Parts: sequence; C-alpha cells; structure tokens
Amino acid sequence: MTSSENIIKDLRNDLAQASTEHAIAQVKSKYLGNKSYVSEQLRLLPTLSPDKRVEMGRELNVLKNQIENSITTAREELVAAQQFPVKDISLPGVGFPQAYGHMHPASRVLQETYKIFADLGFAVVDSSEIETDWYNFEALNMPATHPAREMQDTFYIKNNGKLDVLPRTHTSGMQVRFMEANKPPFKIIVPGRVFRNEDEDVTHIWAFHQIEGLVVGEGVSMAQLKGTLLHVVQGILGPEVDIRFRPSYFPYTEPSVELDCRYKGQWLELGGAGMINPIVLKNGGIDPEKYTGFAFGWGAERIAAIKYGLDDLRELWRPRFEFLEQFV
Ligand code: PHE
Repeated sequence: MTSSENIIKDLRNDLAQASTEHAIAQVKSKYLGNKSYVSEQLRLLPTLSPDKRVEMGRELNVLKNQIENSITTAREELVAAQQFPVKDISLPGVGFPQAYGHMHPASRVLQETYKIFADLGFAVVDSSEIETDWYNFEALNMPATHPAREMQDTFYIKNNGKLDVLPRTHTSGMQVRFMEANKPPFKIIVPGRVFRNEDEDVTHIWAFHQIEGLVVGEGVSMAQLKGTLLHVVQGILGPEVDIRFRPSYFPYTEPSVELDCRYKGQWLELGGAGMINPIVLKNGGIDPEKYTGFAFGWGAERIAAIKYGLDDLRELWRPRFEFLEQFV
C-alpha cells in the first residue's frame, strides 16, 4: 500500500527535477489532480465506516497540506533562483576566451637551445644586462677609439660625467668576466637580453636576446667550433640544415667568422663566431700558450624567425594574440 511517507519522498524527488514553472504545475497535478492518490482516497471516504472515515480524513488532510506546502516552497525557490541566479565563481570569466596559455615562440626556441647545449655538457650562466665599458668593449680588445665599436650602436649611461657603464650591446662581455672567475676547461652558454640603438625594421629590434657560447680548454679547435654549431643548429632547425662559415672580423676572435645556415634552400645569417683572441684570454687571466678557446654569439629572435617562418622580427614583441596563438 502507498503510504504518505512514500508519497512525500516521491514528491520531493519530482520537485527536485522540476526546474520550470510548467514542470512544477505538472508535479502538482500528479499529486493533487483528479487522478492523484489523494483525490482517489477522498472520493472513497463516504464508503468507509464513520470511525475509519474520520481517521482517514485527517490523514488525507495532513498529506494534502504537506503536498501543497512542498509545492509552494518549490515555487518560491524557483522565483528566488531566477531573481538571484547562483553564480559559480570558479567558472572562467564571462567574455574572455577560454584558452590555455602557452610558451612564447622565442622562449620555446631558447628552451630547446638550452637543452641541446646542456646535453653537450655546457652550463647555462646567468648575467647582468648592465655592463661596464671595460667588459663590454675594452677587455675584448676594443679600446675607446676602436672602429669595431661602430658595429654596435650603443646606449651609453652617464655615470658621474663618464660613459663607463652601458646596457650591454652583446653577451660577449661575459667572456672575460667568466674567465676571471673560473679555471679552464669550461663550456658555457650565456643567454640574455642585449640593447642597441638601432633604427627598427623587420630584422632589427632595439632590444633582443643573444646566446653567447664560450669554450676554453687545452687543444680546443676551430673544427670543434664548427662541429658544435652544426650539431646545435641541426638540433633546432632539423637534420637537413647545413651551416657555413664566412670570413669576418671581431677584435676578440682570431680567426673570426660569420655563421650562416642553409634552411629551405636559402643561406641565412645566424651570428658571429671565432677562436678567442689570445689578448682576450690574457685579459681573463688565462695563459694563451696553454689554452685555446672558441666563442660564438647569435640572436634568439632570428632563430625563432627562421624556425617559424616570420618575416618581421618585431611581431615577436607585439602583444597580439592573433599572432601568438599560432604557436600553441
Ligand atoms: N658579439 C658578437 C655580436 O654581437 C657575436 C660574437 C660572439 C662574435 C662571440 C664572435 C664571438 O655580433
């Protein structure tokens, strides 16, 4: 037999499912309408004996009131929920694209490059973006009047009337700093931001990232320099890529070369390199009779541009999601 308690339980379940005014009305007719249990029992009352009739009548009244109260409460809750919808504050902000972040293409190339060098046993060394004139130029065999300074348009900082500190123009300033503080043999890379007073165009930005490499030891050779660079460039751009050296000039390397890579049928310039000039080794407190070394430096943005086929380096540092989202 259907007891009042079971009916109330079913009613509660039905009301919990009813999320509209219409659905509540349907629940109401199910429990109080003509064909409902309550109505059927009420119709039977006259057939019962007087005692039973009173008892049953009271029970049915209580049940009917409970049903009506539950329905009223459900209606009130529905109205309240419509006026003050419950907000799930853990949901993403309305109006913002529900996208995941991802690494910036320049950072990705840097991370890949660190990994390849680390596998070759290179340490990644931190450095300062502000450098002294001594380490940035002078210790690298570029005295104040040296024309090679012209290659790197410099933002100088006035320091008590002197121009002896500057936002570094290249990461090569770390060469002599590191030599002074460490005994060879060593293999390091120094990634970091450098600054040049450039007119910006599609291949030049006033601040960009370089990766300096420095290897010093006994018998370090030009062949090792080329082998190392080939391995790294192929690791970043693919095994089909070739490299070449073009004769060049840097006061701190002898001989000096420009490093190009052949990518998708084109020779592209990556950076400079060479065998460390003995004068620089001496400035770093290293005996050039005993040790030799090589150094190289290239631009991280340029590698990213080659790898991702960018025709304008400046895009990398513009806050345009349409551009950056291509690199997810
Ligand atoms: N410092 C040079 C530049 O910024 C690159 C370089 C690094 C060349 C090390 C030779 C050796 O262009």
